[in-house]
Amino acid sequence: MKAALVTGSARRLGRGIALRLAQEGYFTFIHYRTSPGEAKSTLQALKKLGGKGALIQGDLGSPADIKRLVATVRKKTGRLDVLVNNVGVYKPGPLLKYSPEDFETTLRLNLSSCFRLIQEALPLFPASGGSIINIGYAGVENITGTTHNTAYLISKSGLLILTKSLAQALGSRHIRVNMVSPGILSNSVELPESAKDWVPLGRLGTVEDVAEAVAFLAGKKADYITGVNLDISGGYHLNLRSLETDRKKGKSRRR
Ligand SMILES: NC(=O)c1ccc[n+]([C@@H]2O[C@H](COP(=O)([O-])OP(=O)(O)OC[C@H]3O[C@@H](n4cnc5c(N)ncnc54)[C@H](OP(=O)(O)O)[C@@H]3O)[C@@H](O)[C@H]2O)c1
Repeated sequence: MKAALVTGSARRLGRGIALRLAQEGYFTFIHYRTSPGEAKSTLQALKKLGGKGALIQGDLGSPADIKRLVATVRKKTGRLDVLVNNVGVYKPGPLLKYSPEDFETTLRLNLSSCFRLIQEALPLFPASGGSIINIGYAGVENITGTTHNTAYLISKSGLLILTKSLAQALGSRHIRVNMVSPGILSNSVELPESAKDWVPLGRLGTVEDVAEAVAFLAGKKADYITGVNLDISGGYHLNLRSLETDRKKGKSRRR
């Protein structure tokens, strides 16, 4: 049975992606760090849908945990066909007062740990290949500066470069590497009041919108697609400046 691992999948977006991949027939590893209860309930939901899966715990900031995590996958399924790097910390703050520790943690979790996990997991991909999907954010391809969430932007821009580089390096093994970039989701931690007005398609995104794109890129229908970024944003990134403008006016509502 083909296997998929979705990092940070106890809740929110990761949960939706894990459930969607399980529906596609993958044995799905639900990874969590501090949410065992939510992870269990995601596994129950997955089984209710007729899927198969298992829980897997680990701190992706720890190289030892990454090794242990991959060893668990090896022991349980002996293979990995789809890896979704979903964990992404978002800790905004004014750049000049930003803590160097938060800066380093953001880069470690959103970028370096993805590289480490991919490298560790590569031997588990079968000779027929597989799919790696990194989660970005809509607009990631517009290299820009910001004084608000700089570390996050740097980490995700770096992840896009890693995506395109690995797509080249792993093409001969038919391991496709792509990025899926959500726009403003209805569950976003930072929902500007007028967010919906900036989305050409007229609504906020859902977990299901993003999970659908991941399932597409993971599967056979995307067999000739590698090294791309797919914005799932209703066209939101076409008007990225609006978020900055609204925040400056103090209209952003943090939840
Ligand atoms: N939601 C949005 O509006 C939005 C928009 C654009 C992009 N994105 C991207 O989509 C992805 C998911 O977003 P989200 O808002 O659903 O994520 P989230 O709720 O902030 O985090 C997902 C999970 O990451 C896990 N995690 C955090 N630190 C970890 C660590 N050191 N080791 C292992 N796991 C760790 C947590 O697991 P535990 O709970 O088990 O500790 C958490 O449940 C991220 O990459 C984010 O950048 C989201």
